[in-house]
Amino acid sequence: MNVHKIILTLLILVGIATVGYLIYFGYDYYALTLTARPRAELHELLKPSGLYSHGYGIIGSLMLLLLFLYSVRKRVRWFPKIGKLSTWLKYHMFLGVMGPVLITFHTTFKYNGIVSISYWSMIIVMLSGIVGRYLYSKIPRTISGHEMALEDVQAENSEIAEKLREEYHVPATVMADVENLGSFAREEQSDLRALFRLILGDLKRPFILRRLYRELKTVEGLDKSEYKRVKRLTRQKVKITRKLTGLEVTHRLFHYWHVFHKPFAYVMIFIMFIHITVTVLFGYTWIF
Ligand code: HEM
Repeated sequence: MNVHKIILTLLILVGIATVGYLIYFGYDYYALTLTARPRAELHELLKPSGLYSHGYGIIGSLMLLLLFLYSVRKRVRWFPKIGKLSTWLKYHMFLGVMGPVLITFHTTFKYNGIVSISYWSMIIVMLSGIVGRYLYSKIPRTISGHEMALEDVQAENSEIAEKLREEYHVPATVMADVENLGSFAREEQSDLRALFRLILGDLKRPFILRRLYRELKTVEGLDKSEYKRVKRLTRQKVKITRKLTGLEVTHRLFHYWHVFHKPFAYVMIFIMFIHITVTVLFGYTWIF
């Protein structure tokens, strides 16, 4: 197991345990009305400027700042090219979920004033990140996370098709089904519809594969281990064909997504800095 996989798994487990504990610890307080809170025993610890909640806010904000390192690693030329871009993105996603969660506890689930624009921008960026991750996975990439050249993807696709035909003698009729069922049909449609069709296609994929596996069972002369390999190659072929035929749409959607995701991220950071500056000027410096 790769070391980053272990670290990320541990981080996710610690994150889930922390959220569970924060809910368990503060539930009675968060459930109170705003007017009843000042009389609660936990108020001094859990009010947004209290020892604990202020800490959640600081740690959450640091996480949000840290996740911008992905952009720095991706875009800044002089930044050391350490680690794979895809690994940086995994940390970005972890921080992009955990930071907003901690900041939500910092707010004690009440949102008002100008800083709520920052809060809701953050939530929009976080939720849109999930859509972005989906589109990101539709673009063929090298192991390092960089986009593959179109010719390389086409070459890989043809190589798999050739293997299925030449090595395993999969008949032309079955190959045609692999090709057709795996394709994303380029119909005239709005981009939003195309996104839904992409998602629908992914939901349908297990059923399509099951149908293709049934067809593959009819191929003569395959022993058990060969059948397994043919199934694996077919799975790969359907995935690549889908990515290739949907690439134009995915690129366009991913471009729109970037245009949407980034401004909200910058609004969030800008107002977050104003909020931090104002609170520090008012003397709320936590334990420092
Ligand atoms: C408040 C939280 C978040 C902020 C402020 C944020 C900010 C950003 C920014 C500024 C970029 C542009 C990077 C660049 O191209 O330079 C980006 C890209 C991206 N983010 Fe986030 N993000 C957040 C949460 C998330 C989450 C939760 C996910 C996924 C679960 C996510 C997935 C992505 C993906 C897939 C990209 C595109 C990567 C690429 O094109 O190379 N983000 N994010």
